[in-house]
Amino acid sequence: MLGIGLLVTITSCTQKEEKKAFDVDKALSYCDKQVHRTLKETDGTGKMPRNIMDSVTQWKLVPVEISEWTAGFWPGTLWYDYENTKDSSILKSAIEYTDLLYPLTKLSAYDHDLGFQIFCSYGNGYRLTGNEAYKQIILNAADTLATLFNPTVGTILSWPREVDNGRFAPYNTIMDNMINLEMLYWAAKNGGSKELYDIATKHAETTMKYHFREDGGSYHVALYNDATGEFIKGVTHQGYADSSLWARGQAWAIYGYTFVYRETQDKKFLRFAEKVTDLYLSRLPKDEYVPFWDFDAPNIPNAPKDASAAAIVASALLELWQLEDNAEKAKEYKAAAEKMLTELSSDKYQSGDAKPSFLLHSTGHWPNKSEVDASINYADYYYIEALTRYKKQEAKN
Ligand code: GLY
Repeated sequence: MLGIGLLVTITSCTQKEEKKAFDVDKALSYCDKQVHRTLKETDGTGKMPRNIMDSVTQWKLVPVEISEWTAGFWPGTLWYDYENTKDSSILKSAIEYTDLLYPLTKLSAYDHDLGFQIFCSYGNGYRLTGNEAYKQIILNAADTLATLFNPTVGTILSWPREVDNGRFAPYNTIMDNMINLEMLYWAAKNGGSKELYDIATKHAETTMKYHFREDGGSYHVALYNDATGEFIKGVTHQGYADSSLWARGQAWAIYGYTFVYRETQDKKFLRFAEKVTDLYLSRLPKDEYVPFWDFDAPNIPNAPKDASAAAIVASALLELWQLEDNAEKAKEYKAAAEKMLTELSSDKYQSGDAKPSFLLHSTGHWPNKSEVDASINYADYYYIEALTRYKKQEAKN
């Protein structure tokens, strides 16, 4: 009896220790501290923090422009920080930086990134405040994004400008575009046209059919014939090669098919989310949870990492494990997400006192040699989103 009692005590102590192995409160209060540091750099500039390169310790600030695809991430980060701290000064900042995006909502669609820009900022703002003006802005943005849908192809045109200049002609759709579907699903449920749901689902189906190789690995860019809808070929823009596995592209696929399943409840999307996830997990470096920027990069193990991909996947898996109908897979995905967050929260990946960002070691655009091994605002956004999801799940358990 005594032995069993002792065993139970030891086991429960071990479980408590295991639970403490990742301290979400500590990670969130670190984020809050870094947010306050960043605000000191951004306030009064009317600009957004975009990246911090290795050699510097301050954010590169960028104006909000139609082409600045990352403009929604800083307001979104502020909304998550406000959600966790309930700090009224952060609420004020979240409102101010969200408002900076207002001019974008008055323009016709420049490209597919409108979803990233508006849903990360106004979307989180509406979720947390119920501000009706935000709701209308998101509904309008969803209608604007839908103007890029081509029913013959069955996808949204990601980069109209790249058709005009002939680079990704005659018609392109990129994997990142999956993320923008979430705003269409939201709009269809919140007073917008039901057609937005159909557009999002058709885009996800077409992408599932053509935009992946047999093993579930994604192309960055799919080229289509816009007149016939025929798939021409898959190529890359930000990956190492047309047929390589660009880590963030696969991360977008994991995140995208997870919420497409949540919204449609169609099991084919759950099975596909598993397929793209399982490939990603199987190709991670041994005992590591942050991928190289491209799983087929030539100089692995000396290639740069991409913490942004890890943050996106961690956030996605914290949703996917809850949606799972397979208990084993749920367990596997939850454990993987925890390991990703643990690694991202280690000294190796935290900016700490050196820089005001949350994370180090993301890769933005290796072929262009830009933002290689940098702190980048979307890595921080998905990191704090993942932490917030984790915290909520812990509270339920
Ligand atoms: N093009 C968006 C990204 O870098 O993932």
